[in-house]
Amino acid sequence: MTTIPISPVKVHISDKIASAVYEGLMSRPKWLPSWLFYDAAGSRLFDEITRVPEYYVTRTERAILSKYAGEIVTRAAAGNLLRIVELGAGSADKTRLLLSAAIERQETVFYEPVDVSASALVEAQMRIEDELPGVIVCPRVQDYTHDLELDSTLPNERRLLMYIGSSIGNFEPGESLMLLERVRAAMDPGDCFLLGVDLVKDESVLQDAYDDAGGVTAAFNRNVLVRLNRELDADFNPATFGHRAVWNAAESRMEMHLVSAKNQEVWLPGIDLRVPFEVGESIHTENSYKYKPGAAESLLAKAGFWPETTWTDERGWFAVSMARAV
Ligand code: AVI
Repeated sequence: MTTIPISPVKVHISDKIASAVYEGLMSRPKWLPSWLFYDAAGSRLFDEITRVPEYYVTRTERAILSKYAGEIVTRAAAGNLLRIVELGAGSADKTRLLLSAAIERQETVFYEPVDVSASALVEAQMRIEDELPGVIVCPRVQDYTHDLELDSTLPNERRLLMYIGSSIGNFEPGESLMLLERVRAAMDPGDCFLLGVDLVKDESVLQDAYDDAGGVTAAFNRNVLVRLNRELDADFNPATFGHRAVWNAAESRMEMHLVSAKNQEVWLPGIDLRVPFEVGESIHTENSYKYKPGAAESLLAKAGFWPETTWTDERGWFAVSMARAV
């Protein structure tokens, strides 16, 4: 008998996808979890989104970090050596701003990116060690949405743990509190946490940011169907689903949907499911929560942090909040 070796990681991931897709498409209204966006093509499309003129999020946060990087690392270190920990495999140039500011203070700095993707970590490690001599990268493969364990620190070392890019906005309110509580539990008293949140603003600005004229966000949204076709053998015709971005003021969030342009049935043999769609019926694919001024600080305090400082841009579109683990 021949046995076919199956990678345990692959089995784990596809089980996770199968059960999430089954649950979401059996629900009414239908939904899919937004983490499904990030296969290789989706990650590339998201990268492209960060450069479209309408998507102010990335460049506004970058401007804040660029202006205050020195102040952030000095405050976080409070006279000690600083170790920078990032949830996610390095937000490229934004992370670099803080790493460069840290190198100016202490010549070498340990940088610990935490990500579920080993390949993303290897890529971040090569890029950062190549571009920033003085940074020692200690990657950690971990799904921080489930557990978080950090390298221990020296007695004269403090952590600056970053969760930037408005990533917290893609979690439901209860989930984001749980995530921050888990982060707090992994930190030591005196460590600092830096959280980037997108703020509530004019509806038209939000609308354009999530429905850019070049159609990059629409392609990002539809790519989830391409992924289900590939990974679950589904027969979605992505062209028959329209991209819709709506502001839900009551919930303070931007929502993305894929709306069926006709009555149709989709077959997903990978999970043995037939899904009927009526014309106009949608799959809810993402929530992106926008914070009111002060809301990030309240959330941080609820999670057991001591909020210290918040930096914003001149238009008040984005906020970077620093809080201390006490
Ligand atoms: C990754 N995340 C913070 C983005 C956001 O703005 O919620 C994902 C995104 N969705 C549409 N455009 C960008």
